[in-house]
Amino acid sequence: MGLSYGVPPGHGGPSQPTGLFIAFEGGDGGGKTTQIQRLTLWLRQQGMTPVVTREPGGTSVGLQIRQLVLHGDDLSARAEALLFAADRAHHVDTVIRPAIEAGQIVLTDRYLDSSVAYQGAGRALASDDVLALSLWATQGLRPHLTVLLDVAPQEGRDRRMAQPDRVESEPDDFHERVRGHFVALAAADPGRYLMLDAGLPVDDLAAQVVAHVEPLVTSLRTDASRRPHGGPP
Ligand SMILES: Nc1ncnc2c1ncn2[C@@H]1O[C@H](COP(=O)(O)OP(=O)(O)OP(=O)(O)O)[C@@H](O)[C@H]1O
Ligand SMILES: [Mg+2]
Repeated sequence: MGLSYGVPPGHGGPSQPTGLFIAFEGGDGGGKTTQIQRLTLWLRQQGMTPVVTREPGGTSVGLQIRQLVLHGDDLSARAEALLFAADRAHHVDTVIRPAIEAGQIVLTDRYLDSSVAYQGAGRALASDDVLALSLWATQGLRPHLTVLLDVAPQEGRDRRMAQPDRVESEPDDFHERVRGHFVALAAADPGRYLMLDAGLPVDDLAAQVVAHVEPLVTSLRTDASRRPHGGPP
């Protein structure tokens, strides 16, 4: 399974990466961080060390952007969308793409779909515009698999320990639009999404994630062993 790029390989676009790219998406408090930790543990047990990262804030520049978008002053919707895209562009260029081109497994806590759902559906910008912006920012880099933890906004809020940030503080109808858009994205492309009911026990969810990731890891290792200097990531 290849990564999908806006520009086909060999047509001036980036080279075809060889690793595995998995995004965890969904509403606040759905269990993204918990499931990334569980999958990381499982991968380590298999002898692999994934690159674990997040958006916004997967780089030092990204941390400054994170501060602005989540904890700063009020922002216009378009400015917010551009800042998330800027964070993503730098994150892909300096962390994600180099890692997958080196054959590594990358797990990201939020990616492009969060922009499409939160800035597109939540803020009511045109979702297609927000998607196009992120595809430009990332040169079309999409995950092999997106794990969507579908959570009711009330449930996510009840689980929250910290003070809500700028986006978490939005009212329920905002979060309902976000949730609906995530679900629609997953339903439109079932081959690339694993949608899970975030209300299930942590262990059940972790087992379902492993069941989907295991064959991807197996084919990654098989491909690596065929390369002249390949090996497990
Ligand atoms: N399946 C689950 N059932 C019940 N509680 C859970 C489940 N998964 C995670 N939790 C708990 O819910 C809280 C939020 O989980 P977690 O931080 O993993 O969510 P998140 O999606 O990363 O949240 P955020 O969007 O705020 O980063 C934590 O206290 C965690 O222990
Ligand atoms: Mg989290």
